[in-house]
Amino acid sequence: MKIGICNDHAGVEYKTRLMEYLEGKGYEMVNFGTDTTASMDYPDVAHPLATAVEKGEVELGIAFCGTGNGMAMALNKHAGIRAGLCWSVEIGKLIKQHNNANVLVMPARFVTFETVIEITEAWLSETFEGGRHQTRIDKIPCK
Ligand code: RB5
Repeated sequence: MKIGICNDHAGVEYKTRLMEYLEGKGYEMVNFGTDTTASMDYPDVAHPLATAVEKGEVELGIAFCGTGNGMAMALNKHAGIRAGLCWSVEIGKLIKQHNNANVLVMPARFVTFETVIEITEAWLSETFEGGRHQTRIDKIPCK
């Protein structure tokens, strides 16, 4: 599976470590984020990742910024994106089971790397439940 990943300056370390971890597990990773800690603007990397997911160039996406909120806000402006902000394993499961999140967003300044791994594994291994959750997802777009 091909996964796109992006980050701002607050998420460089976790992006780099998570890419290494997932590549070690056989995932093909595409890096849309910055590779330095120089201050930058998260929308500049969020939008290219979102577009790649929408076009099917990558199957799923992962994003880091300090709180996760800026990334989630920018990503969710795209009609084809359901980006879930996640800071616990249980939420990681639920954003796939209930929301079919195609981008996982994590707050680099508020979670440990061990939690990042656990959340990512949970999100990747769960499946969407459909049914009433699909009905709700269908109602998300603005009319
Ligand atoms: C950067 O300082 C910080 O504002 C950014 O990483 C993110 O938390 C924004 O939502």
